[in-house]
Parts: sequence; C-alpha cells; structure tokens
Amino acid sequence: MIREIVQIGDPVLRKVAQPVQNFDEELAALLDDMKETLIAAEGAGLAAPQVGVSLRVVCVLVEEGYFEFVNPIFVWQKGEQTGPEGCLSVRGKSGIVTRPSKVKLLFYDRKGERYSLVARDFFARAVCHELDHLDGILYTDKATDVRAED
Ligand code: CO
Repeated sequence: MIREIVQIGDPVLRKVAQPVQNFDEELAALLDDMKETLIAAEGAGLAAPQVGVSLRVVCVLVEEGYFEFVNPIFVWQKGEQTGPEGCLSVRGKSGIVTRPSKVKLLFYDRKGERYSLVARDFFARAVCHELDHLDGILYTDKATDVRAED
C-alpha cells in the first residue's frame, strides 16, 4: 500500500525515532509499504518518519540495489563529497550538501538478523540522508544552497 509522504513542517520529521523492538508482521508491512511508496515516488530513499511512523527504519534504492535498514548505526564515516540532494518530504527543492564519501553501517533486516555494509559515493550519501531523518534532521539543515528545482 502506498502511504502518504509527510512534508516539511510536520512535527514527526523532527522527532528522534524509536528503535524497533519487535521484528514482526507489522514491521514487514511497514517495510513493504515503504518500498512501494519509494518506488512510486521515484526516490532514492525513504525513512519511516516520512510516512508518519517514528521508528528507526529506512529503505534505500540505488544502483547497488534495494536495501532495508532497521535500527542502523554508523560504525565509521570517511572522506567527503559535496553534491546536490533532494528529499521526498521537501518537494520541488534541491540543495548542495557535504557528506562522507564512504560509511560503514551496522543494521538489522526485517527478520532481526544483524548485518554490516559499506556504502560509497551516492549510496553513502543516500544512507547518510536517510539516517539523519531518524534523528529529526533534514538535508535543508545542512545544505548551503536550497533552491527550487526547474
Ligand atoms: Co529525505
């Protein structure tokens, strides 16, 4: 089911999201809906707060594939990249943001299995952007230049 993507100004986007405790059918349904919503919106990533659910859950769709991260944490962040970024919760705008160029994550999948992963370049940017959502941070807080897209 496609869920509504909340927009900047909604307080749920500014909350620190809670860790997932139960790896149950409700989590699976949330992730299924987030995937469908992300694909329909043609985005690179979506965090649960963006569909009004204050849980530490994100999905990312990049060249490397489709990924689901539950309770993700950074192990390390390295390097730097500066480039354009947008957000499905800040419709019609983009900005220039500096991010790490390489990150290592620890996370759980929807079944509660623990994994680690290294993301580089745009994948790392997407991961950093989505993890910020879990702490109530929007890219517009970090961007040097936010403007309307043509
Ligand atoms: Co976003």
